[in-house]
Amino acid sequence: MTTGAVGRAYSRLEGREKVTGTARYAVEYPVDGVTYGWAVPAAVVRGRITRVDAAPALALPGVLAVVHHGNAPRLAPGPERDLWLLQEPAVHYRGQLIAVVVATSLEAAREGARLVRIDYDAGPHSTVLTAEHPGLYRPDQVNPSYPTDTAEGDFDAGYAAAPVRMDATYRTPAYHNNPMEPHATTAQWRDGRLLVHDSNQGAAPVQAALAELFELPRESVRVITEHVGGGFGGKGYAKAAVVLAALAARQVDRPVRLALTRQQVFGPVGYRTPTIQRVRLAADTDGRITAICHDAISQTSTLREFAEQTAVYTRSMYAAPHRRTTHRLVRLDVPTPFWMRAPGECPGAYALESAMDELATAVGIDPVELRIRNDPAVDPELGRAFTSRNLVACLREGARRFGWAERDPAPRARRDGRWLVGTGVAGASYPARARAAAATATARPDGGFLVRIDATDIGTGARTALWQVAADALGVPPDRVDIQIGDSDLPPAGVAGGSMGTASWTWAVIRACEALREKLRHTPGGGPSDGEVTAEVSTADEVREQPALPRYAYGAHFVEVRVDADTGEVRVNRMLGVFAAGRVVNPTTARSQLIGGMTMGLSMAMHEEGVLDERYGDWVNHDLATYHITGCADVERIEAHWLDEQDGELNPAGVKGIGEIGIVGSAAAITNAVHHATGVRIRDLPIRLDKLI
Ligand code: MOS
Repeated sequence: MTTGAVGRAYSRLEGREKVTGTARYAVEYPVDGVTYGWAVPAAVVRGRITRVDAAPALALPGVLAVVHHGNAPRLAPGPERDLWLLQEPAVHYRGQLIAVVVATSLEAAREGARLVRIDYDAGPHSTVLTAEHPGLYRPDQVNPSYPTDTAEGDFDAGYAAAPVRMDATYRTPAYHNNPMEPHATTAQWRDGRLLVHDSNQGAAPVQAALAELFELPRESVRVITEHVGGGFGGKGYAKAAVVLAALAARQVDRPVRLALTRQQVFGPVGYRTPTIQRVRLAADTDGRITAICHDAISQTSTLREFAEQTAVYTRSMYAAPHRRTTHRLVRLDVPTPFWMRAPGECPGAYALESAMDELATAVGIDPVELRIRNDPAVDPELGRAFTSRNLVACLREGARRFGWAERDPAPRARRDGRWLVGTGVAGASYPARARAAAATATARPDGGFLVRIDATDIGTGARTALWQVAADALGVPPDRVDIQIGDSDLPPAGVAGGSMGTASWTWAVIRACEALREKLRHTPGGGPSDGEVTAEVSTADEVREQPALPRYAYGAHFVEVRVDADTGEVRVNRMLGVFAAGRVVNPTTARSQLIGGMTMGLSMAMHEEGVLDERYGDWVNHDLATYHITGCADVERIEAHWLDEQDGELNPAGVKGIGEIGIVGSAAAITNAVHHATGVRIRDLPIRLDKLI
């Protein structure tokens, strides 16, 4: 008895609140006696703080405290070394947040932060990733828990024996997550309990981290995350803002609001590691790939090992009997990298999907056809059939919609006045995972229902999707359903990350609704007359018992660019993506996720680049004026389509997740199109004029 809510294009439930400015974000909650925190960044790369002179700051009217390693409340050595803030004089990277000024106004806190005098002993540093770095090492595993290296067959022999070979090295720079809302927190201590309104991608892990750091039972920490102004992975765990706000609030014994500045978002809370990736492909003359090797190098910090899974994409994307992937890492004097939309898959696909284009040229086969010809019958990794694999269908549907058939494969063959015009294609895949979650469903005496789960809506439309799924699972019109999310006091659920939020949360919501219906069947009168009936479930057992099968979403990107023949200016005329990602719960929010991912890939291809100056050991472009991010005017036409895909091996809602697949492969489709337009192959992003002329 479905009411057909799933699959319908509803607007976001909280859309009106958001556009009218009444939706409250982390530092917008009214709090009595609130004070303001402003974080102070380290001015050296590596060294020790020898003296903190707080006197000039404390002399400023309104300044209540300067909290630093010499006076801060003590933290337990926590889950991540990055979060052990204000505990030691050591400086591990430039920009590390080493003090907080607390004041009765934001202005006084900011001015106070400027007045704090800090002296350092600074030592030499190393902050630039190179393939020859003497510190290169092999990590024990890569994120989240993949083997570091893999090998099947004999790559070297297979490669040497093949008639067609390509060997190229691709480079991507550091990328910085820039959600509109920075990391921000309002922290309050009340009767030994810590309450934070925090901007994050999951209240439960933030609650767990704070409990560990402040040595509190978990139930003594409450994390409220009702609305979040984006994250892109950078808010996937507790970060500096929430820890500093909690420390400061404890120090001054008053509530503290603390938002990182835009500049502080570039570093202390993570970024996408730069990568150096060598890809080698070998094929028969008919374009059947015989050998694939992907060697990836990335960086981590001296504080913690973060090993991006850059080459994992290559393990299951295309068929070949001889295959090898490796990951190497260097510890640099930099902030710890972190997740950014499709960590691993995104930079990895840029390299592999570029290499596929180079191979297509080398063999003389159309790049769509090359991909179709090398679609594996079973997962090369697990040796088992994919639960559903519609890459070929996405390529065919995309080619049809895009008008690929008329393409002249010769580079630099199409001209429109001063513009050289080219088209490019790339494949995409992203794992379809799910994690355990809990939820409750309640029937109210008035005929309404309430579904509660600690899911997080970071702007994706998750709240609305869960509401739709709940209505169908309850078999009632959606206007009888209320949904409550974003609070660690609710039944626990995992992060909005890894494109697994909707899969994980709908699973728990559907089971809770089913359990409630079952309960109501056994309730006299079929429903609550004088009280509420609640069912609570956890999917922990069901998720754990799910067989390990290769589950992936797929996509194909088609792009048309034009390049000014004299100046090298690149414009993107058209981006078209076709995706196969299971069931689509809400076409409006799904389209927004997919074109958002594609646009972020465009941004990666054309604009974004963290430029590190080794002399200062920090990025010199650390604001939105100098770190360029794509805007709407940067693409003239963008379309996302999806196939109707039924996959019974996923989860009760049949969804694969769509948060990340849109960015995977998107940058390669653009550089492939630029190559088609100009004959120039861009192997180090971003595309810039000087690389084209
Ligand atoms: Mo996403 S980078 O898994 O939040």
